[in-house]
Amino acid sequence: MTDPLLRVPFAAPLLGEEEVTAVTEVLRSGWIGTGAVARDTERLLTRYLNVEHALLLNSGTAALHLALLTLGVGPGHEVIVPTVTFTASAATVVHAGATPVLVDVEPHRLTVDVEQVRRHITARTRAVMAVHFAGRMADVRALRALCDEHGLALIEDSAHALPAERDGATPGRLADAAAFSFFVTKPLTSAEGGLLVCHRADLAAEARVLSAHGIDRDAFARHHGGRAPHYDVVAAGMKYNMPDVTAAILRCQLERSDALRERRRAIAERYAKGLAPTRLLLPPADTTDDASSWYLYVVQVPRGVDRDHLADRLRARGIGTSVHFRPLHQFSYYRDQLPSAAAAFPVADGSYPRLLSLPIFPAMSDEDVQAVIDALSDELRQAVGRS
Ligand SMILES: Cc1ncc(COP(=O)(O)O)c(C=O)c1O
Repeated sequence: MTDPLLRVPFAAPLLGEEEVTAVTEVLRSGWIGTGAVARDTERLLTRYLNVEHALLLNSGTAALHLALLTLGVGPGHEVIVPTVTFTASAATVVHAGATPVLVDVEPHRLTVDVEQVRRHITARTRAVMAVHFAGRMADVRALRALCDEHGLALIEDSAHALPAERDGATPGRLADAAAFSFFVTKPLTSAEGGLLVCHRADLAAEARVLSAHGIDRDAFARHHGGRAPHYDVVAAGMKYNMPDVTAAILRCQLERSDALRERRRAIAERYAKGLAPTRLLLPPADTTDDASSWYLYVVQVPRGVDRDHLADRLRARGIGTSVHFRPLHQFSYYRDQLPSAAAAFPVADGSYPRLLSLPIFPAMSDEDVQAVIDALSDELRQAVGRS
């Protein structure tokens, strides 16, 4: 993720001596697999997110897959997914044997359009996946009401949103299940990792079994406390568990999560001020009842400006950027496989050519932020002059 040739890379994790010490301790402990550190980190996350059950996994994708499986999504079912998201949101629906139904998003905040969800509910719909795009939450209260009205499960793809808040709800509180990611660039990272949260003990227990080969007792339990090493296989499970060596990194990140979030928010404020004079459409600002994790800072370039050329120009000036997301219905796989991909997506298609994600990560200095503002403002002046 970090490009040494760039003055400001697109993203870089903030790791310190705490993480080095924590990993070293696990390496020296004699147990590097899933064990006491993962369990302790789960306890901390349960408290932090104010949820009943938390299961650490080796990716956010694994968490989405297990959310779908434990909520009974399978062949013959449809799951409504916004088209502006990462492929894992829809691919996991396919892995569960069901069909993703892609729908358009709200302008500007680019989270799923609740009216579009309502229009796409059929007798086959089993669940709705709310994606908290860039760290700004979808309208979970409206989606919860809609799902309750139609007897549907609500799943939050919260890969971008740890933490975030909307209308008094935080990720995982209103959904039947929520999935988080700890990939390298995410607000909290363990290099790779994921978390499934839910409120029902039976689903949490089923997910735990499925995450470790469908074996009824995990390896740590089998080898500790003098218990017999025998086990039963009760399902055709996956291999999704998070090892302690990884959980140790996450536990350190969790301890400094407030500081990490504060720094992201401060960078977002600097961007908002510094880029206000430009013709960029800036992301929605935080309000008292709508707070982003500021995982991404996604601007929309003025109409007529070539986004990719602008990104190239910024790269030439030492600044990394990215694009989130090319809508799923534009990718060949979804176009070929999903009937819903043939629909019209005016908001997603209209915004995609304008989307540009700027660097926003806690290790950025104020000078880095200013360098991005200066370079972008300058390139925009030239681009607007050309257009
Ligand atoms: C919206 C969204 N959902 C799911 C995922 C999958 O998370 P992971 O990479 O941890 O599997 C990502 C990853 O970037 C994501 O952006």
